[in-house]
Amino acid sequence: MRTIHEKIKSISKDMSLRQKIMVMILSILVVMFALITYYKISSATKNITADFEMKVSSTGNLAGVALSDVMWNYDIKGTEVIGESLLIDREVAFVLISNENEIFKKILDGRMYSEKYIRTMQVPILKNDREIGLVTIGFTDYYRHKAIWQEVRATFFILVLAAVFIWGMIVLLIRTLVIPIKQLELGAKRLANGDLSERIEVESNDELGALAIEFNLMADSLQIMIAERDEALQELTVSKEEIRQSRDDLEIKVGERTMELSAMNQELIAINNELASTVDTLQETQSQLVQSEKMAALGSIVIGIAHEINTPVGVCLTAASYMDEISRNAKNKYELSTLTKSAIEEYFTQSVEASSLILVNAEKVAVLIDKFRRISTEQSIDFKRYFNVKENLLLIADTLRPMLVNSKLTLRVECDQNVMIESYPGTLSEILTDLVTNSITHAFGPDDVGEIIIDFERQESTCVLAFSDNGCGMESSVSDKIFEPFFTTRRGALGGLGLGLHIVYNLVTLRLNGTIECSSKVGEGTTFIIKFPMDEEEKVN
Ligand SMILES: Nc1ncnc2c1ncn2[C@@H]1O[C@H](COP(=O)(O)OP(=O)(O)O)[C@@H](O)[C@H]1O
Ligand SMILES: [Mg+2]
Repeated sequence: MRTIHEKIKSISKDMSLRQKIMVMILSILVVMFALITYYKISSATKNITADFEMKVSSTGNLAGVALSDVMWNYDIKGTEVIGESLLIDREVAFVLISNENEIFKKILDGRMYSEKYIRTMQVPILKNDREIGLVTIGFTDYYRHKAIWQEVRATFFILVLAAVFIWGMIVLLIRTLVIPIKQLELGAKRLANGDLSERIEVESNDELGALAIEFNLMADSLQIMIAERDEALQELTVSKEEIRQSRDDLEIKVGERTMELSAMNQELIAINNELASTVDTLQETQSQLVQSEKMAALGSIVIGIAHEINTPVGVCLTAASYMDEISRNAKNKYELSTLTKSAIEEYFTQSVEASSLILVNAEKVAVLIDKFRRISTEQSIDFKRYFNVKENLLLIADTLRPMLVNSKLTLRVECDQNVMIESYPGTLSEILTDLVTNSITHAFGPDDVGEIIIDFERQESTCVLAFSDNGCGMESSVSDKIFEPFFTTRRGALGGLGLGLHIVYNLVTLRLNGTIECSSKVGEGTTFIIKFPMDEEEKVN
């Protein structure tokens, strides 16, 4: 069952629409025609046969009744007339009338067809309910068969006519259905092959016409779309070309740039090498400079020391040589016994003067040498301690206050209570002593009213000590040099050596490991900011 279905399916798959319609309608026609033919022929046969049978029986009965009187009267002539009249019917092939003997027998020529086409009817001839004879009539089937055949032929003729008509209708249907579809198919094919001008003529207003209109609309939009696509393609090609061109340009540029860069790189390497050798030279020069700077500093220190010591040592020398001379004179006079009492007295006076001069100047030299020793921080000894800053600063202030006794200056300490640090209290005292001394000496005149402030605060692990006075201040040409050894603006009269701030600088940087900065304005005063770490581990000398 399934295989038959599949077979039909596979056959119908390869058939065209026209073939499918034809096969379908033909099968319907064949079945319909067969049914009609069968019905028509069977009903015709039935009717014709019934008519025939009726004719046979009625003719037989009529003959029996008609012959009754004639036979009773033994009228031969009458019998023959009746027999002849029976034969007028073309279907009657023969008539046989008999009593005991054969009275009348007539067989019509040409009507004796084959035995099997003969249908015989025997009717008894009755008179007063007595059988007086027998009439036998032979009917031929020929005309009945002929009538049936005629009916069959007529039916066939009508069916053929109908078939021709239906066939014509089918062909017309196919024409109106399949041809437009075929046209659509061909149009679609041509469209698919690229013939975008292809359009289908719209001949009807039915679904196929609508399909054709849709098809044409589709072709229109396809044509537009393809035109647009072609345009875009054109543009794409152009921009591709442009991109290729610019890429080529870029490659050329990159090549040029790369070459330039590698040349530059080469140059840079050369410059770098030069720089490296320059740095080497510079480092060498720097170390030489540092060395010569050190030598210069040492030289200036030596010159300063020599300059400071020169006068008292010169005085000592002069006094000593003077004493040597007067002592020799006194000795000569004594040996020659010419030494008078007045000469002795003069000698004593002169030698006391000279020796006191030597003593004073030697002391001066000793004081100077002690000051010089302080230039080197290594010469002062201090120990690191954990101490309360405010207490310590107040103590230092108390030791310094006697210096302010004959002035109109005040010294103030500002510091939070209970600030403890680990540092060098002795060094702090030394630094503050020098700074206070400088303020008294350089910032204020003898009658000036002024204030000196020592301010301390801790900024995390850094200690900030600010020392300030509101004195005369300094020119920048002075403040730039104040930390240099032997720089002073007051040499001589007040005995300034120009070592105070140099020593302070050394103590801050070398001992406290900190920094010192000075800011000063003429007429406003001077401030020193000293910063140093509080927890710095420091080697104690
Ligand atoms: N508080 C100050 N006010 C104005 N000038 C100052 C002050 N402190 C220092 N100076 C200037 O700095 C110079 C150098 O000071 P210092 O090194 O202590 O040497 P000296 O005190 O022996 O002159 C001083 O000669 C002075 O001109
Ligand atoms: Mg000083």
